[in-house]
Amino acid sequence: MLLIRIRPLGLGFSFSCRMKHACLRSFTLFLLTLLRLGRSSSTADNQPSCHRCDPQLSCNCSCGGFTRVPTVTDQARTLDLSFNNITAVTDDDLKGHEQLKVLDLHANRIAIIHPSALDSLWSLEELDLSDNQLSTLNHSWFSHLGALQKLHLLNNPYSRLGSPSLFRGLVGLRSLAFGGPALQELRRGDLHGVTQLDELTVHATNNLARYQSGALADIWPLGRVTLNLHGSSLTNVTLASAVLGDVSYPETPITLENIHLTGNESAQGLREAARKRIRQLSFRNLSISDEVAMDFLLLFDGVPLTSLSFDGLTLTGDGSWGPAIKTNLGSMDEIFIRNLVVVDILRFVMTADLYFILQFQRKMSIINSKVFLVSCKTTQLMVNAEYLDVSDNLLTDLTLEYMMCEGNSTLKELRVLNISGNPLKSLSTVSRLVAKLTKLTHLDISKISYSSMPSSCSWPSALRYLNISVSKLTTTTPCLPTSLEVLDLSYNDLRDFTVLLPVLRELYLSGNKFLRLPSGHLFVNLRILTIQSNTLNVFSHSDLQSFKRLRKLQAGQNKFICSCTFVPFLQFHFQGGGDLQLTDGEASYVCDSPLHLQGKPVSGVHLSVVECHQVLFVSVSCGLALVVGVVLCVLLWRLHVFWYLRMTWAWLKAKRNSKNRRCRDTEGWEALLSFDAFVSYSERDAGWVENFLVPELEEPSDSNSGNARSFTLCLHKRDFLPGRWIMDNIMNAIERSRRTVFVLSENFVHSDWCRFELDFSHFWLFDVGVDAAILILLEPLSKDDVPKRFCKLRKIMSSTTYLEWPQEEERRPEFWRSLRNALRGDQEDH
Ligand SMILES: *[C@@H]1O[C@H](CO)[C@@H](O)[C@H](O)[C@H]1NC(C)=O
Ligand SMILES: *[C@@H]1O[C@H](CO)[C@@H](O)[C@H](O)[C@H]1NC(C)=O
Ligand SMILES: *[C@@H]1O[C@H](CO)[C@@H](O)[C@H](O)[C@H]1NC(C)=O
Ligand SMILES: *[C@@H]1O[C@H](CO)[C@@H](O)[C@H](O)[C@H]1NC(C)=O
Ligand SMILES: *[C@@H]1O[C@H](CO)[C@@H](O)[C@H](O)[C@H]1NC(C)=O
Repeated sequence: MLLIRIRPLGLGFSFSCRMKHACLRSFTLFLLTLLRLGRSSSTADNQPSCHRCDPQLSCNCSCGGFTRVPTVTDQARTLDLSFNNITAVTDDDLKGHEQLKVLDLHANRIAIIHPSALDSLWSLEELDLSDNQLSTLNHSWFSHLGALQKLHLLNNPYSRLGSPSLFRGLVGLRSLAFGGPALQELRRGDLHGVTQLDELTVHATNNLARYQSGALADIWPLGRVTLNLHGSSLTNVTLASAVLGDVSYPETPITLENIHLTGNESAQGLREAARKRIRQLSFRNLSISDEVAMDFLLLFDGVPLTSLSFDGLTLTGDGSWGPAIKTNLGSMDEIFIRNLVVVDILRFVMTADLYFILQFQRKMSIINSKVFLVSCKTTQLMVNAEYLDVSDNLLTDLTLEYMMCEGNSTLKELRVLNISGNPLKSLSTVSRLVAKLTKLTHLDISKISYSSMPSSCSWPSALRYLNISVSKLTTTTPCLPTSLEVLDLSYNDLRDFTVLLPVLRELYLSGNKFLRLPSGHLFVNLRILTIQSNTLNVFSHSDLQSFKRLRKLQAGQNKFICSCTFVPFLQFHFQGGGDLQLTDGEASYVCDSPLHLQGKPVSGVHLSVVECHQVLFVSVSCGLALVVGVVLCVLLWRLHVFWYLRMTWAWLKAKRNSKNRRCRDTEGWEALLSFDAFVSYSERDAGWVENFLVPELEEPSDSNSGNARSFTLCLHKRDFLPGRWIMDNIMNAIERSRRTVFVLSENFVHSDWCRFELDFSHFWLFDVGVDAAILILLEPLSKDDVPKRFCKLRKIMSSTTYLEWPQEEERRPEFWRSLRNALRGDQEDH
């Protein structure tokens, strides 16, 4: 019964055990599968993530090589995904980004956006989908973006905006950009819902075939319009007129981009704009022939155009504009030209009669246009010019002189002159030439390589603004006029500033070589100072105090020494303490030294007490170390450690000597012996030794002993070599003596080197195996009177019989005899 019972039990057990294993295995398998599934789903998902977010929650994931929208923190405010390879935006790619205000997806390859992909972005204010592959636009993308203010949809391959209107729900929209090379038609109602814009950009290039008049007409007020009319749009006069006519209002500045009209085409496409009497017209990237230029001028004859601007103007003709120079452009007061290219520069002759344009202009700019000469005659025509910008051209000292009519009777109304970036050389020439421009308040002579500043200069008395940045000045002199309110001397090679400028309000000194702040007493009215990228190490409260009125300071990117006074001082200002504002932000203030703080932002530095009170710390720790040292020494001395150390050292030395000696033969050793005995005694017992022992043993009298022979004794007083270490002397003496006589007394026990002799001789005994020590007790001394650490002496005292110096006169001959015997015994042994 028992057996039967046990068996099934055993079976059952083994079965359940196997079951358990199986279960465990399958459970593990299950888990593994789950894990693998999880992993494979995540590899299939492969949702990358981007962690490039700054503290303001602006995430810059641009140029990250992403092929799909990466995960970023849900808190992100700005998400820049431009210049990636994202092809689609799925339903839940952007889920949970309720905080997102700016989403930039431009320059990807997005072809598909899920209809509800952007639904959760109800805070979104700016969306850029330009330069993608969207061939159709879906109004449901934008249906939840009630907060959207800016929407850019440029350069996608869609041919129409589609209906119903994409923009119906976007009541807050203020900036809209759409169109591209594929756009074929624009119909009324396409922009339904767009009522008012600050900015409208339309790329209506050569494929735009159908434009339903009025498609852009409902937008009002309209802030600024940019039309890219690349291709033949402008030559398609009807279409161009229809488009321009819909957006032209006198108050709306219009910019036309990428127009290339270099044949005998007409500019009649602009007719509607002229008819609507627009005031401000700009061209960006315009190439025109003489015919078109002429046509254009005639078109705007009498139109109250106030401002005309060309950024990138190519003139292909030779400048013969014929009757167009009679055009009435009397209301124009600003002309701006930048990057002018005259293709046929040799044939181009601008007929001198530019009077029709020049006489009215208040503001004239001709920038970066390779102008090397402006004649005196031309500037004399500019009777109304208040603002002249001829920066980044090729004017030299000589041609500038010519242009300024050698400083006489021209440009009398000029208030602002900008000759920055011309190959001029002499600061004194410039100052002489402008001195007669009595109304001049602003002078920009930056980006000119002046080698030096003359010691005095003449300036217009009204001059308030002077820009001599990006030059090569090394010193400042009283050449600088005291009337200045704004002075820019950044990016020179200045090391100090010494000129008194009492009304100066702004001073720019970045990019120089200042080691310290200039003295604030020179600028009692200064409000703004920039001194970034110099070599400042520190500045302190007192440095700043001399600037009585300073409100804004930029002093980052310097070589700061993060000292204990500087760091808290700066952190105090970061936290808004004081009136002074550090406008360049905490991040620009970085420690340069000490080494362990190099590269750390000052705002994050915490200096310890040790670093801040180094002198105190060092002196306290030195003091402590001294005290500990003294205590230790006292302790060691009390414990006789020095004595032990010395003993050990001597012992080691002796050991070595004895080893050497053992190598030699005994005869050799015998020859070395020069004394019969070395007498070891305390200085206090010297009297006894000199008066009794020495006379008795070295000069024996016959009365004492008949057969007395004399012994040679080694006494430390007499036989030690002066100048050698006492230990060496002792060892030497013991080595060269056959025996050692110890004169024991209280005094002996208390004299260190006597103890050593004892020790050494004991070792000697032990080594040589001869009874070489003779103990003489001068006074009764029991073993217990000897301190415990002289264990050797105690041992010898207990093992060796010693001779006691008798107080009674009559027992002394007996003593001497015993002593002689003891001394001689050795020889007899041999
Ligand atoms: C996008 O992918 C193409 C090839 O598919 C590659 O040449 C290009 O460098 C990628 N661009 C980025 C920004 O990763
Ligand atoms: C300027 O416009 C022409 C067409 O008129 C175009 O081919 C060219 O790319 C444009 N240049 C720039 C820099 O946009
Ligand atoms: C422009 O020139 C072409 C020949 O180059 C000529 O056929 C055409 O009539 C001219 N058009 C105008 C408006 O002058
Ligand atoms: C002068 O021209 C330069 C270069 O074009 C420009 O940076 C600077 O701001 C101009 N100065 C003034 C006072 O307009
Ligand atoms: C001085 O000129 C430089 C270079 O033209 C310019 O960058 C800078 O802004 C100007 N400074 C001021 C204070 O306008």
